[in-house]
Amino acid sequence: MEQILLTSAYLFASVFFILSLRGLSSAETAKTGNYYGMVGMGVAIVATVMSNEVTGYAPILGAILIAAVIGAFMAARVKMTAMPELVAILHSFVGLAAVLVGFALYLDEGAAHGSRVVMQIEIAVDVFLAAITFTGSVLAFLKLRGSVSGAPLLLPGRHLFNLVMFVSCIVLSALFVQAEGHTGLNYLIIMTVVAGVLGYHLVAAIGGADMPVVVSMLNSYSGWTAAAAGFMLGNDLLIITGALVGSSGAILSYIMCKAMNRSIVNVIFGGFGTNSGGSAASGEQIEGEITETFVEQVIDELRDAQSVIIVPGYGMAAADAQYAVASMTEILRKMGTQVRFGIHPVAGRLPGHMNVVLMQANVPYDIVFEMDELNDDFPATDVVLVIGANDIVNPSAQTDPNSPIAGMPVLEVWKADRTVVMKRSRRTGYAGVDNPLFYKDNTRLLFGDAKDSLNSIVAGLKE
Ligand code: TAP
Repeated sequence: MEQILLTSAYLFASVFFILSLRGLSSAETAKTGNYYGMVGMGVAIVATVMSNEVTGYAPILGAILIAAVIGAFMAARVKMTAMPELVAILHSFVGLAAVLVGFALYLDEGAAHGSRVVMQIEIAVDVFLAAITFTGSVLAFLKLRGSVSGAPLLLPGRHLFNLVMFVSCIVLSALFVQAEGHTGLNYLIIMTVVAGVLGYHLVAAIGGADMPVVVSMLNSYSGWTAAAAGFMLGNDLLIITGALVGSSGAILSYIMCKAMNRSIVNVIFGGFGTNSGGSAASGEQIEGEITETFVEQVIDELRDAQSVIIVPGYGMAAADAQYAVASMTEILRKMGTQVRFGIHPVAGRLPGHMNVVLMQANVPYDIVFEMDELNDDFPATDVVLVIGANDIVNPSAQTDPNSPIAGMPVLEVWKADRTVVMKRSRRTGYAGVDNPLFYKDNTRLLFGDAKDSLNSIVAGLKE
């Protein structure tokens, strides 16, 4: 393929990646955004395979075919709630691939382009970032799956340990760059191992509750790794794509931290978060009793209500209850009830989790609101249904300065006339914090699987 054609194809793909990111920024345009991304990636793969540097078509086409089948199979099977795991393991592939490309380029006599020293610096930077991304992502994957404990590993002097490893990597990289011929291979291998340990140790120090932010940070690292690989290979498309992934991942991590009122430095260097579902001590003593309710009572309250706000959380997605929620919404709206959804920015386990799940069930976009858009409306609301949400509706974030979630903005559901919380037990949410909402006079708990409860409510409302 002519160089000019290749450059044009890469430019075309880059524009589509940018359009894709733009599309993915809102629920209405997310599907189109995905299509743009698919077109961009399709063009990028075809153009790369047809470039003059590729000669052996059989192995590359075979690899693409096998990878496409595995990718399609994984994407079709993955549950929405397991998406962060999938993303984490995919980032580890980026890291591993970039490490291997770095070594291959170093060992390939004919691959050098431009100055040797510059290329070796590029290889060192690429391999360093890639090794951190690889081991960090594998550990994040294992933590999210529950295969290893989510508890943070807080070794004494861990920051010093990280610093020593970081400085060692710089020294080893300098020795690698200065070495003649292939004599620097040993330095590169040792630097890779040290960077791998650093990546593992950085993620090990972070608690389970912060894992989604870590996945987003690793997304960012994988982007910068790809950009470094782009410089190393002299490939403009990789540089652009890597920079897009790197910066969008960093921005997303920042937005997530802001929504949780956490400092990003605090998240990256660990310390917060325990096993999911565990109970964490909070300074505040909770007073009052939990009052249970039952399906028939909730049906009566919904029939009498003029305004209803539904607050979905992780439990709704875990129960796959979104279709029952959509049916209930349709019935209530036909009865003339005003129904709206209140979405917290970190509801669920990944950004936009609730929006995606509600979209799956065709809940109309125009009744789905961000937290800030309807937080003032709760006092004028007859019934709030909290479906599988916990931390995002916890008033102690506002009242208890010692709470691990102190300062996190929350949906003020307790201000409604009646708040019904659907969950299976008295267990805490992801942050492991007790929730005073459950003990308030106007709160009722409807125990049971959210999908079962909602299906019973739908059946009752239809009668
Ligand atoms: P959580 O606080 O985790 O609460 C979910 C609740 O759902 C649990 O209390 C659980 O109670 C209930 N549940 C689970 N399965 C259920 C089922 N089948 N039926 C009914 N209820 C079920 O979720 P949330 O309120 O959505 O808050 C999200 C948490 O994740 C926050 O702490 C947030 O900071 C954290 N986080 C989120 C993100 C993003 S980007 N979304 C990123 C980082 C951290 P039972 O076990 O009693 O049923």
